[in-house]
Amino acid sequence: MATSTGSIILHGWHRVAVYSTLILLFGSGLAWVLLHYFGIQQGPLGPVSSPFEYVSLQAHGVLAYAVVFFVGSLLQSHMSRAWRLRRNRASGLVFACLMLCLTMSGLALYYFVNEDTREWVSLLHWLIGLLLPALLAIHIVLGRRQRRRHS
Ligand code: HEM
Ligand code: HEM
Repeated sequence: MATSTGSIILHGWHRVAVYSTLILLFGSGLAWVLLHYFGIQQGPLGPVSSPFEYVSLQAHGVLAYAVVFFVGSLLQSHMSRAWRLRRNRASGLVFACLMLCLTMSGLALYYFVNEDTREWVSLLHWLIGLLLPALLAIHIVLGRRQRRRHS
């Protein structure tokens, strides 16, 4: 039975990797939304999308792999350990479900959508995605508060 919170807290390169990939993933998704809805330019033959719209989607697709990798790296040391110690379970579960929904809807966007379903799966995916920073911040604040209470 684990008794220390030591490995729940992220350290060094691991912490940098988790935070930076999450921030960049969110940034690339947000960039796509802004460019898609507000970045339309007037071309000689009518409205055209910004060339950066596709670049932001490419970056987002690459970062999605990195995020899934680093979230996976938290399963044993962070999630399973915190679960056994009964720390921050509710907000951890909510955040883990958010990541699962984003991963599933992201996969659907890449492999499974058709003309009829593409638009609403896309909308669902990025609307849920916009919640990421707020839910992560709540998760961290509650987790740290519980650690201070226990120590
Ligand atoms: C997708 C899943 C999750 C991610 C990406 C995630 C990420 C994080 C991050 C980045 C922190 C801040 C830690 C630091 O900066 O050192 C944190 C804190 C915390 N998380 Fe999670 N978490 C996840 C799921 C969970 C689950 C399921 C639980 C509980 C069962 C949990 C329990 C905690 C606790 C207790 C803390 C506070 C650690 C401390 O500072 O004492 N997390 N989480
Ligand atoms: C675990 C987290 C996430 C994963 C695994 C993920 C994965 C993906 C994948 C695989 C795609 C399809 C890429 C393509 O068609 O080339 C996608 C599209 C997209 N994602 Fe994410 N994503 C995540 C989080 C987010 C977040 C936080 C946002 C924030 C706004 C976001 C916004 C978007 C947008 C706007 C698109 C484009 C939708 C479209 O083409 O219609 N995603 N995502």
